Amino acid sequence: MKHGYNIEPNNGDLAVDAQGLVKLFGENRAVDGVDLQVKAGSIYGVLGPNGAGKTTTIRMLATLLRPDAGTGRIFGYDVVKDAQIVRQLIGVTGQYASVDEALSATENLVIFSRLLGLGRAEAKRKASELLEEFGLTEAAKRPLKNFSGGMRRRLDLAASLIAQPPLIFLDEPTTGLDPRTRAQMWETIRRLVKTGSTVLLTTQYLDEADQLADRIAVIDRGHVVAEGTVDELKASVGTSSLQLRVQQGADLAEARRIVNHVLEVQSNVTSEAAKITAPMADADRVTDLLLALREAGIALDEVSVQKPTLDEVFLTITGQGVNEGAN
Ligand SMILES: Nc1ncnc2c1ncn2[C@@H]1O[C@H](COP(=O)(O)OP(=O)(O)OP(=O)(O)O)[C@@H](O)[C@H]1O
Ligand SMILES: [Mg+2]
Repeated sequence: MKHGYNIEPNNGDLAVDAQGLVKLFGENRAVDGVDLQVKAGSIYGVLGPNGAGKTTTIRMLATLLRPDAGTGRIFGYDVVKDAQIVRQLIGVTGQYASVDEALSATENLVIFSRLLGLGRAEAKRKASELLEEFGLTEAAKRPLKNFSGGMRRRLDLAASLIAQPPLIFLDEPTTGLDPRTRAQMWETIRRLVKTGSTVLLTTQYLDEADQLADRIAVIDRGHVVAEGTVDELKASVGTSSLQLRVQQGADLAEARRIVNHVLEVQSNVTSEAAKITAPMADADRVTDLLLALREAGIALDEVSVQKPTLDEVFLTITGQGVNEGAN
């Protein structure tokens, strides 16, 4: 692993180790005892509705906010006691707010690179490499004040990637990006991890967590309410669901009786599509069910087994959709 830092992580395994983090804003327990463990070399997703405490948690881990209780360690270094060391091991998006609006994107990136100690030629090379990667080459010479919101976000991430730090916090890295740029961002994030970095990201997009994250924590009202791999979280919500469509609407009631009997569950019917949906704990029983339906002379149009989506997981755990939170 190569990153221009003299300080090597002194705890190889855990990039982030937070225990009982608390942050109060007046009466509001914005973060109320959060535990997080992020393995070095992984992508970790933090999901939660608006106001859940995601950004506040990240700001504490990134030494931007002092915890009221609990501890946070970054590669073994304490975010309060060793804040100076921690700052050299991390990158946070959103630091780009204070750049010069009159300068072009290239000039801004070159200045950033120079501040980070890169030589003139190296800084230029890095700037054009990043602009290319983020699809900003054509806009590179334009002053920043003419950039759209999405272009700014891309430049912001590009700037935070100049010195690829061992741990990168990305707070909603793709919010407001068009689909193509979003896909590019995913590629960039994957590449960062392949080349040795660890990424902790928050997202409002469940499919993003599904695509990218090795593990996910769901935060709600300042607490971690679920943690695991995407598959573990899906499995925790239950079971797959079986969907059947009968050819003859007249068979629907009898088909449903057989489903309930063979699978020993309570199924549901969506009448407009003559479709039966049933929770299914044991995929093996589908064979029995299909045989029973054939014996009863019921012809099927469609059979499918679906794992719950991360959306369903989220709804079940937090009782609300990801975008319908407080605030
Ligand atoms: N600087 C602050 N001063 C006072 N209250 C704050 C401050 N920052 C955050 N809060 C409050 O803390 C709670 C958690 O906010 P936070 O920004 O961490 O949520 P979030 O999960 O990042 O939400 P979002 O999805 O909207 O970004 C909210 O109730 C918010 O209003
Ligand atoms: Mg936030």
